[in-house]
Order: sequence, then C-alpha cells, then structure tokens
Amino acid sequence: MKWVYIKDIHNFENQEVEIKGWLYNKRSSGKIHFWIVRDGTGFLQCVVSKKDVPEEVFELHDKMGLESSLIVYGKVVKQPKAPGGFELFLKNAKLIQAVKDYPIQKKEHSVEFLMPLRHLWLRSRKQFAIMKIRDTIIQAIEEFLHNEGFIRIDAPILTPASVEGTTTLFETNYFGQKAYLSQSGQLYMEAAAMAYGKVYCFGPTFRAEKSKTRRHLMEFWMVEPEIAYATLDDIMQLAENFVTFIVKKVLEKRKKELEILERDISKLEKIEPPFPKISYDEAVEILHKKGFKEFPWGEDFGSPHETTISEEFEKPVIIHRYPTKVKAFYMKRDPKRPEVVLCMDMLAPEGYGEIIGGGQREENAEQLRKQIKEFGLPEEVYEWYLDLRKYGSVPHSGFGLGLERTIMWICGLQHVRETIPFPRLYERIYP
Ligand code: 4AD
Ligand code: MG
Repeated sequence: MKWVYIKDIHNFENQEVEIKGWLYNKRSSGKIHFWIVRDGTGFLQCVVSKKDVPEEVFELHDKMGLESSLIVYGKVVKQPKAPGGFELFLKNAKLIQAVKDYPIQKKEHSVEFLMPLRHLWLRSRKQFAIMKIRDTIIQAIEEFLHNEGFIRIDAPILTPASVEGTTTLFETNYFGQKAYLSQSGQLYMEAAAMAYGKVYCFGPTFRAEKSKTRRHLMEFWMVEPEIAYATLDDIMQLAENFVTFIVKKVLEKRKKELEILERDISKLEKIEPPFPKISYDEAVEILHKKGFKEFPWGEDFGSPHETTISEEFEKPVIIHRYPTKVKAFYMKRDPKRPEVVLCMDMLAPEGYGEIIGGGQREENAEQLRKQIKEFGLPEEVYEWYLDLRKYGSVPHSGFGLGLERTIMWICGLQHVRETIPFPRLYERIYP
C-alpha cells in the first residue's frame, strides 16, 4: 500500500493509503471508534468501524493510550466537516508500540507542568502551529535578504570579546584562555561588510540575563544584516521592509496555524510601510503623558515603558537616537548631538516590546578606541575590529532582529518560551 503524508491526503481521495504516525486522540461510540492520528505533517481523523476491520484491530482501541505509534491503512474519504476536509475509513492497522499513561493528557496543563516535558509537549497541535510559523519566518528572512542581494556569512559562537556589555556574558574556558559565547555576530559582520558589502549572519546568540521576564531567553536566534556605506536612515528603511515582508509571508502561508493560535489577524494585516519613527526624546514625552511622569531623560526603557510607547501605535514603531550612555560602545554618536547615538530600536505593536536593535557604527579608529576605553573594555581583544577602521574605513550600519521575539508577537503569545523548540531560561536547562 502507498505510504503518504497527511499534508498530501487531498491528492488521494477515494484511494487506499497507509499513514505512519501516532495516536493523538481517541473516542468511541461503541460500534465506531474515532482515532485522531498525527504523522508530523498534520492530523487526520480515522473512522474505525467494527464491520470494516479485523477484530483485533477494533480491540486496539482500549489497548493503546495516547501517543501509541501505529500504522493505519484505509480509504481516503472527503468529509467537509472534518478538520482537514478528509477522513480515513480504516481497513486495517498495525500497532508499533502501545503507550500507557502518556504524561500529557487532553486537558489544560499548567506551563510549570509542561516545561520539563517539553520533549513531548512539542507534539501538541498548538506547539506544532508555532513551530511551523517559526519555520516560515526563518524562510522569509532568508528569502528577503537574498532578494535584496545579501550574502550569508556565519559568525563564530566562541568569541574572545563582548559586544553588548560585559554583564551578560557566558564565560567558558578556551584552553586556558577566557572565551565567551557570542552575544551577537555584529563585529564579525562589520568585517564581512567591508569585504562583501551587504552581509548577514543568522544563528544562536547568548545572554546570561538574570531575569525571568516573558521576553528573555538565555539562548536566542538573531539575524543580523550589516551594510557598508549605509546610514541610520538606510537601515531604518530596510528594517521596515524586512518586518513587513516577514508578516506578509506568515499571513500568506500560515493562516491555518494563526487560527489555531486564535491570533487576531486583522492586527497583522495593518503592517505596511511606512512605520512611525520617533526620537528617544519624543518617546520620553509619550511616557510623561501616559503615567510615567517622573521618567528621567537618559535612562533606558524597561518592559513597561516599551509597552506603553508601543500601545500608541498600530504598527511597529522605530525609536532612534537613544542616550549615548545606555547603548553599546560601538555606536556612532550623532555629530550634531554627542549625547545621543545614531541607533534605532523597533518595538512591536500590542505591547510586545523590542524586536530589533541596531544603528550606525563608529567608523573612526581614534574615536572608537576612546569609546572602548570609556566602556572599560580590554583594547587588545578589539585590535582586529579597530583594523577595520584603519584599512578603508567607511560609514556602515546594521541591526539585529530577535527571531523569538518576532515569533512571539506574530503568534500573539504570552511568553517567549514557547517560540523556540527547547528554551533556555533563567536557571532552567532541562530538557
Ligand atoms: O538590541 P540587541 O542587544 O542588539 C544587538 O545585539 C546588536 N549587536 C545587533 C546588531 O546591530 N547587529 O539585540 C537585538 C535583538 C533585540 O531587539 C531582541 O529582539 C533580541 O535581539 N534579544 C533577545 N531575544 C530574546 N531573549 C533575549 N535575552 C534577547 N536579547 C536581545
Ligand atoms: Mg536592544
């Protein structure tokens, strides 16, 4: 018999096929059992009628618990009322492994209960929808950047230096020398941009953030485009087109999954350029008007501030020119106002917070060396980085988009932990 995948089942109407999968759910009316089988590509209702199957197959119903592995054989029948539009009228089945007492039952479980069972939790319909959207977003990222003429350059994960401050470094011992898990591939992308013009990296990055907020992971994926000769304005434009493209792709390919997640799609349909762009100063004014009267100019925004600012807008909002002292050492100061840097953050709407951070980089060697010293960083591990300012230095800019934050917003999730297959959270590294 022909082995097919549930996602292709519509091509086999009235034909007999074989599906290899797992028992997702079951119920019975006595003479007829209904088995929901999943095979990793979808879910399919199997109708198991006493008169159509061997007796031992009919009796499997009581022997196999949820997530038993099995192969089912039967005829594909159109059934507009069934979830995928088709059902399988069973002729036979082969049990591969009977499962007893699968720990996740078909009821609401707390996340506390589910987190240590993440390796099994991934099988659920909702997690499946999130992982498919994640996959679509990854594809959209690659497609957009390649359409725009970028070349992918992979950055190392073991690094000798910090990018985003020394307080969130994961330190490791590199043959007796200190090394760190990468916080960002940016510095390497700057080298690559001077070599190839438009480049990006896309991989896992690490932050030892001792925080338990719903937006923080210790290990998360970031895509980081970097462009030689680009200014802050150029990359704000790029970021806006990038995010619009990603949202459009998800709406085009993953409507069904967004529905499973009960996402209000009308909110995503509003994502079109141009996005509002405001300065840090203007953002502070919004805070002063909306309940944060005492917020001092010069401080970084925390989650509640970001939420308040983004609630002013239906689209992602870009905030540029933050105070110099709250941003990283490599940022270029605004020549007209050295107390602010030529940076930008993009905040997602509906209170989801920052999804992009980036800006223009300091391209002058002397000024950059000064900034490295001001930040108390060890100059010797940045000599290669300073070289980029000695040999054909040009203005250049880039940004990093956090994959999981973006998924959290697009899927409308409460917490970032469900956006990555195996989240690394504060003090939690199991499974
Ligand atoms: O704003 P960040 O720290 O910027 C950088 O790392 C730059 N070096 C990027 C660049 O210019 N090439 O991080 C960028 C994005 C944030 O906007 C956020 O979406 C995500 O990475 N991010 C996190 N996501 C999940 N958990 C965390 N702990 C995150 N920290 C940052
Ligand atoms: Mg940031």
